[in-house]
Amino acid sequence: MSEVRPLFWKEGRLHLLDQNLLPDRVEYRVLSSWEEVAQAIRDMAVRGAPAIGVAAAFGMVLAASGALTAGKPLAPEISRALTGLAATRPTAVNLFWALERMRRRWEQSLAMEGEKATAALEEEALRIWQEEEEANRHLARLGADLVPPGARVLTHCNAGALATAGYGTALGIIRAAHRAGKLEMVYADETRPRLQGARLTSWELVTEGIPVTVICDNMAASLMAQGKIDLVVVGADRIAANGDVANKIGTYALAIVAHYHGVPFYVAAPTSTVDLRTPSGREIPIEERAEEEVSCWEGRRILPPGVKVVNPAFDVTPAALVSAVITERGILKPPYPESLKAIR
Ligand code: MRU
Repeated sequence: MSEVRPLFWKEGRLHLLDQNLLPDRVEYRVLSSWEEVAQAIRDMAVRGAPAIGVAAAFGMVLAASGALTAGKPLAPEISRALTGLAATRPTAVNLFWALERMRRRWEQSLAMEGEKATAALEEEALRIWQEEEEANRHLARLGADLVPPGARVLTHCNAGALATAGYGTALGIIRAAHRAGKLEMVYADETRPRLQGARLTSWELVTEGIPVTVICDNMAASLMAQGKIDLVVVGADRIAANGDVANKIGTYALAIVAHYHGVPFYVAAPTSTVDLRTPSGREIPIEERAEEEVSCWEGRRILPPGVKVVNPAFDVTPAALVSAVITERGILKPPYPESLKAIR
């Protein structure tokens, strides 16, 4: 079976697979304004760094087409949408990268009539989507060469088709390795608090007949100590110029555990995730999410009154713990300041 589509563009509307409903229901939200796209990103109906970028690009098309239909000037609406979409989630750089591409395309279209300018934005969003998916397929082929026969691979969060423009980064490599007959088992961290591993990664894999076992986040060290994990591969939300990697909370702990046990720790990401303007992980803004994600379970508070909660959605893995960064432009090795600069 072919992999799932997190989104598609049809008749001037964005169809978004509502990831909050998975794995129980497969339902697409049909979005016709940039505000609806911003809301979908905020409440995580669409999530995962490259997927957020692609959704925001289509949000910009909706801003232009909405103004056109209402007979309003496009420029103020474009500017409102750029600001509004950029304010949805702070960590994944793909969002800002995609908005910057849309802004540049808009500036090149300023002399055009509204309809032509809107068509130019639509063309740019479709191109971003297509390029991102192609990048994933390419890096997946490169990354699959690092997977030994009979591999038992551990991944964290969801870096699959759902989190990207299609095919996936970490799960793209897992898909390619499976097709090459090299994969024995994928271990998916459940990924507290939002359970992207348990709900999304396991769903994507089992749907395609790829063997998957879900573990709680605190079980990885024990499996590695028993020699049951051959490599770890995760996605990324932002890779700083020195090679530090922001990814889903828990990734850092996993990297330390992998390092201790001598298990290779790979990061898979398209070059749109590389942010050379951010010198190191210290400067990456980390999203803090609502405390109810931690304090509540199935709508019920599970903590005694007065107990405090912190809920950072991402952490930073120091470059020193990363065995390689797998991009569509090649497999990068330390020293990352040089190898990252070379591919951009
Ligand atoms: O909070 P989320 O679900 O958007 O976080 C997603 C992740 O951390 C992914 O691992 C990352 O975006 C890479 S996706 C290819």
